[in-house]
Amino acid sequence: MMYNDLLARSFSKHEKKKLGYGAFFGCLLIALSFCTVFKPYLGPLPALNLKQSMAAGFKMLMVRDTSGSYSKPLAPLTHLSETNTSSSQETVKAAKIVTDKMEPVTNKTEPVIKKMEPLCNVTERRGDICNINGDVRIQGNSSSVFLVSSEMSILAGNNNSWSIRPYARKGDRAAMSLTKEWSVKLSGRNEIPTCNKNHSVPAILFSQGGYTGNHFHDFTDVVIPLYLTSRQYNGEVQFLITDKRPWWIAKFEAILKNLSRYELIDIDKEEEVHCFPSVVVGLKRDVKELSIDPSKNSYSMSDFKEFLRSCYSLKNANAIKLRDGQRKKPQLLIISRKRTRSFTNIGEITKMASRLGYKVTAAEPTMNVAKFAELVNSCDVLMGVHGAGLANVVFLPKNAILIQVVPFGGFEWLARTYYGEPTKDMNVKYLEYKISTKESTLVQQYPPDHVVFKDPYSIQKQGWIAFKSVYLDKQNVKLDVNRFRTTLVKALELLHR
Ligand SMILES: *[C@@H]1O[C@H](CO)[C@@H](O)[C@H](O)[C@H]1NC(C)=O
Ligand SMILES: *[C@@H]1O[C@H](CO)[C@@H](O)[C@H](O)[C@H]1NC(C)=O
Ligand SMILES: *[C@@H]1O[C@H](CO)[C@@H](O)[C@H](O)[C@H]1NC(C)=O
Ligand SMILES: *[C@@H]1O[C@H](CO)[C@@H](O)[C@H](O)[C@H]1NC(C)=O
Ligand SMILES: *[C@@H]1O[C@H](CO)[C@@H](O)[C@H](O)[C@H]1NC(C)=O
Ligand SMILES: *[C@@H]1O[C@H](CO)[C@@H](O)[C@H](O)[C@H]1NC(C)=O
Ligand SMILES: *[C@@H]1O[C@H](CO)[C@@H](O)[C@H](O)[C@H]1NC(C)=O
Repeated sequence: MMYNDLLARSFSKHEKKKLGYGAFFGCLLIALSFCTVFKPYLGPLPALNLKQSMAAGFKMLMVRDTSGSYSKPLAPLTHLSETNTSSSQETVKAAKIVTDKMEPVTNKTEPVIKKMEPLCNVTERRGDICNINGDVRIQGNSSSVFLVSSEMSILAGNNNSWSIRPYARKGDRAAMSLTKEWSVKLSGRNEIPTCNKNHSVPAILFSQGGYTGNHFHDFTDVVIPLYLTSRQYNGEVQFLITDKRPWWIAKFEAILKNLSRYELIDIDKEEEVHCFPSVVVGLKRDVKELSIDPSKNSYSMSDFKEFLRSCYSLKNANAIKLRDGQRKKPQLLIISRKRTRSFTNIGEITKMASRLGYKVTAAEPTMNVAKFAELVNSCDVLMGVHGAGLANVVFLPKNAILIQVVPFGGFEWLARTYYGEPTKDMNVKYLEYKISTKESTLVQQYPPDHVVFKDPYSIQKQGWIAFKSVYLDKQNVKLDVNRFRTTLVKALELLHR
């Protein structure tokens, strides 16, 4: 969600400030959205009526989000064009329905209804998406996408215009408030600006706003959706970036370069009208985090991982397979976090793991994705406290193991949804280690009978900011190495199979 990782080290001061405000507003909005979730269509900001725990709240958000009922009303936005506008209902029913085609009607003996798919699908659970074919014109400085409709009469009463925020985390109001809104319109030829630049390839318009800068969100909200939406074009596609973040482009250069052969266009400031034979506004994404459902897409998470291996020239397809008497050591990478949720006894953990036979490295992810990808790919076991760094799981070889250390404070749902579940489709094995109160540095900050320990639930009820400020920001982890040992032994057993 909106961890402070959002204010990642790499941000410029200015952006930090902007995002700081954004995050603050975001939190307000999330709080607001909870109200909507629990009491849909009530007025703005009634007393925060949060009857459920934060975790349950997240879940609700997701479920609601998933049902689609949480976002815009799902009006049947079908555009109909008829050759005979006075046809009776019966004729309409009997008429042949042609989908997806817009060629002029030649058979005049019987009214033929051309049913055009709505330009935008706003029933997708995690992001609105528009697939627009034809004479598509984009004017960046007015954030508008036009489809020229020449032959058709645009029927009154139909929606021919949509407002779309092209970031794949619909329902998360904080994220969406950090994403520019675009208008997509079906318009008559006369109302549309003329083309200044004609392109022969399709375009994909997507945002680098939202929660970008948080490694988890970079992957789950942008990189994987972008792969899903654009891989099919084999590089023959033009990317149009809204809410451009230059550091984001630098961070994922290898991926962007592979997916598109063309220079990125920073579309927001463009005064020229760019024209395309087809445009996708928004990105396809799976309902689950860090996932691709192969039954709904032509790709799977295995394909995505192979794609990453090719982008970053990663050597290892498979984790080590331990055999008795073998001398090669399994590699353990500890994701260290410096500011929050850090391990306070990395030395001790390293020593214990080395005694078990691991070769241990501790590292904090940097903006150099290529370098970190290579390090992660060379490992057999990746461990870390719940946090965005664990998204590097995508670079692990097959049959490697992710160990998520779950901090104190009711993280179960987040831990499972963000990293536990997604490993299943990645050919990565998953182990979870839930710390005891004693292993949390919160014991040094609050007396044992404090509500922080006695009733984390009541703090979650106060909202995300309260929850985050205690359990995410103030908590470090001093692993009880004897207790944790069992988990590392289990990982060794898994590497034997
Ligand atoms: C439309 O259909 C009505 C009833 O079938 C018919 O009377 C009329 O002449 C038709 N108009 C055109 C323009 O085809
Ligand atoms: C027009 O449609 C009718 C009914 O579907 C069909 O019998 C006829 O052959 C069609 N004529 C042309 C010119 O396509
Ligand atoms: C829109 O998205 C929904 C949900 O995924 C899907 O069932 C439906 O077929 C899509 N509609 C169109 C016109 O693509
Ligand atoms: C058109 O869209 C608006 C906003 O999305 C909605 O309020 C309105 O009911 C829609 N109208 C029709 C005819 O679908
Ligand atoms: C773009 O293509 C259209 C239609 O083919 C043409 O009328 C127009 O002059 C072209 N514009 C430019 C700038 O090439
Ligand atoms: C966008 O640029 C065009 C061409 O310079 C200009 O005519 C138009 O007024 C601009 N629109 C906005 C909203 O700035
Ligand atoms: C992109 O990655 C694919 C593998 O997923 C590879 O086949 C292709 O050569 C790469 N293209 C470029 C331009 O790097």
